[in-house]
Amino acid sequence: MIRHFLSLKYTSAEQLNHLIKLTAAIKDKPRDFRKALANKTVGLLFEKPSLRTKAAFYVGAQQLGAGAVYFSPSEVQLGKREAISDVSHALSRFIDLVVLRTFSHENILKFARYSSIPIVNGLSDLYHPTQALADIFTMYELKGKLSKLKAAYVGDGNNVCHSLMYAFSILGGDLRIASPKKYQPSKSILKEARHFSRVSGAKITVTDSAQSALNGADVVYTDVWTSMGKEKESVARKKAFKNFQINDKILKKAKGNCIVMHCLPAHRGEEITDSVIDGKHSAVFLQAENRLHTAKALLVYLLGAK
Ligand code: CP
Ligand code: NVA
Repeated sequence: MIRHFLSLKYTSAEQLNHLIKLTAAIKDKPRDFRKALANKTVGLLFEKPSLRTKAAFYVGAQQLGAGAVYFSPSEVQLGKREAISDVSHALSRFIDLVVLRTFSHENILKFARYSSIPIVNGLSDLYHPTQALADIFTMYELKGKLSKLKAAYVGDGNNVCHSLMYAFSILGGDLRIASPKKYQPSKSILKEARHFSRVSGAKITVTDSAQSALNGADVVYTDVWTSMGKEKESVARKKAFKNFQINDKILKKAKGNCIVMHCLPAHRGEEITDSVIDGKHSAVFLQAENRLHTAKALLVYLLGAK
């Protein structure tokens, strides 16, 4: 059976813990893995812009001895220039794995259905699982086990939020999500995450009060108010989210030694102030660097010798 990485909802605690351990080993001794994927080729097919995800998988593949080929947003035009099934069938005959960034999550499911090679979700409107992998690794590095942490996600109940919900629900921990009522995470994902939490002991709550979510938090996480593809809503969103900014004042509600995370790109002055993102609590650039180490671990896991 082909191993894909489409959403954390299909991964177990054992798999996530394995990926965390593998990331630590790769980060510690990158030279030991420099031929791990010799003769493999990784394809990057992106329908939206990217800095970190592209760099992590492109550079990561090269550091593991693999080749990488990038297809830009205008190049492939999934479903327009040709059918998703044809792109998927054809690419399976050239390369060994595809990282796909697209709009509708349905496109990723369809692509995977016709593929005979592993497909990695490099972000869809619904999930951002490779980001969540770097996020949980960063939390482990700086704060220890998720199951002992109180984390506050403040902002849009979006793809990044959904993947964090699965991460906590599988590994345990206390995740409080604060979003304006209209922009709270999907109810069906919340239901599913709470179902997984029965095994892990996680606690996942949703509120419209940023202050109460931040109370005593070890980890404070935010993301843009307007995700890629939703630009037309940006004016309405700026209004709705104005009380959901991570600034020095609100950060006082969290623990004195809390870390602040953001998947980036950030809209400085909107969801996060310069003083917080550049301040002493910020783990944002370590988190960005960890995209590389976790991407490498995922590539080795999906393509390495079994
Ligand atoms: N965090 C993240 O996925 O960044 P990019 O959109 O730049 O890849
Ligand atoms: N929620 C953001 C994440 C970008 C990495 C978006 O989808 O645009």
